[in-house]
Amino acid sequence: MLIRKMTLKDHAQVLALWRNTKGIGTGDGDNKKEINSYLKRNPGLSFVAVSDKRIIGAVLCGHDGRRGYLHHLAVALDFRSRGIGTSLVNACLSGLNALGIAKCNIFVYKSNISGRKFWKKSGWGIRTDLLVLQKKVS
Ligand SMILES: CC(C)(COP(=O)(O)OP(=O)(O)OC[C@H]1O[C@@H](n2cnc3c(N)ncnc32)[C@H](O)[C@@H]1OP(=O)(O)O)[C@@H](O)C(=O)NCCC(=O)NCCS
Repeated sequence: MLIRKMTLKDHAQVLALWRNTKGIGTGDGDNKKEINSYLKRNPGLSFVAVSDKRIIGAVLCGHDGRRGYLHHLAVALDFRSRGIGTSLVNACLSGLNALGIAKCNIFVYKSNISGRKFWKKSGWGIRTDLLVLQKKVS
């Protein structure tokens, strides 16, 4: 198993993994064009885990100059509980740290109890004072 930087060539496999993973919500923002834009804007911060040429884990990571953001962390069911999720997150956090980004945020579905347990165990705290709001720009 190898952890390496995500490239656009990984898109089809990564999207298939996300779509097959309970707890990950995919949408317009995950098409090839938008992932290309994301990877270009945040070079070297998103990672995949690969076993025998199969992508068995993936995570998107970026920052806005102040704070980092992780999205769509997923590990294939048959590869879970081997530390792969933790390794993917650590790769992202190392990348953010190297860029001087001091804190990282994630968005987790409230209903994703299993995912929430993973983040809690990994030391992530819930910001109970915040809500996530969104508006269409175009
Ligand atoms: C969350 C996820 C990425 C974890 O990947 P993983 O490779 O199994 O995680 P790790 O093996 O690195 O686990 C790290 C620790 O978290 C714990 N953990 C992992 N998943 C857990 C769960 N569902 N419930 C409780 N603890 C969990 C592990 O026991 C491990 O602790 P340990 O080191 O003391 O044994 C994976 O379960 C997954 O893809 N889930 C579905 C998608 C999802 O919810 N992603 C997060 C969306 S924001």
